[in-house]
Amino acid sequence: MSNQTHYAIYPSLRDRIVVISGGATGIGASMVEAFAHQGAQVIILDIQSSPGFELVQKLADANVAHTPVYYECDVSDVEGAVRPTAAKILERFPRIHVLINNAANDVRQLTPDVTLEQWDTSIAVNLRHQFFLTQSLLSGLLEAKSSSVINLGSISWVIPGRKVAPYNACKAGTAGLTKSLAHEFGPKGVRVNSIMPGAIATERQKREIITPEYEALILDRQALKRLLQPEEVARLALWLAADDSLGVTNQSIVIDAGWI
Ligand SMILES: NC(=O)c1ccc[n+]([C@@H]2O[C@H](COP(=O)([O-])OP(=O)(O)OC[C@H]3O[C@@H](n4cnc5c(N)ncnc54)[C@H](O)[C@@H]3O)[C@@H](O)[C@H]2O)c1
Repeated sequence: MSNQTHYAIYPSLRDRIVVISGGATGIGASMVEAFAHQGAQVIILDIQSSPGFELVQKLADANVAHTPVYYECDVSDVEGAVRPTAAKILERFPRIHVLINNAANDVRQLTPDVTLEQWDTSIAVNLRHQFFLTQSLLSGLLEAKSSSVINLGSISWVIPGRKVAPYNACKAGTAGLTKSLAHEFGPKGVRVNSIMPGAIATERQKREIITPEYEALILDRQALKRLLQPEEVARLALWLAADDSLGVTNQSIVIDAGWI
């Protein structure tokens, strides 16, 4: 069954400008596809240019209303990449309707092995970019009059976790950052929410993380006995971006098949 015939089409997303960090692969790429098929103009920021350009070509070949635009941008580099890229985006697209702060790096490391530099790197990619990309695109989010920021969090800091202390600290921070921004900019029409996924079977997760033993543990913990797919997270993002959720802000919404 094709996504385009089975799932919701949101007329309010047509022609909307949607910026997605980490949109070249994984959940981010699923969100890029989902928004592009809604007729939105998607802007992808990533460091993996080759899958980024392949995705742009795939959607161009699919004749979506607006071919996505790809910018190489290391979101952990605020002065050298985030600010200048945001300025270029705003020059071309002065109104930003949707910003999805999705890029992350969930590197596994035991706490005694984490160096100061690795801690700072984790904060830079997993949490700091969510703040500074939002700040850098703020004029566009305000210009749109009604806009939606979606920060990717995780259930990882709620469930027992090992070897991911810096990442989990960031993902807990995302929940607080979301609430703070929601109240600061709600009066100006900017909604800010977070999505907290559970275990999502992206290609990379299947390759590197979800061993048969871990899959058995996931399914044991979940109420639904199947692995969630990246497209399912993307469909939640569509709803949070569309006018169908205009009354929803300040929330962290869990999509984890009933794990927590
Ligand atoms: N997959 C899961 O099971 C899961 C679970 C909970 C939360 N999440 C969250 O969902 C989001 C997407 O997860 P995913 O599994 O697709 O991640 P992923 O690691 O597979 O993909 C992340 C994307 O971000 C990009 N990226 C990494 N560092 C970057 C940087 N410095 N600058 C720009 N782009 C960069 C990568 O190139 C990649 O395209 C993340 O925020 C993650 O923490 C994922």
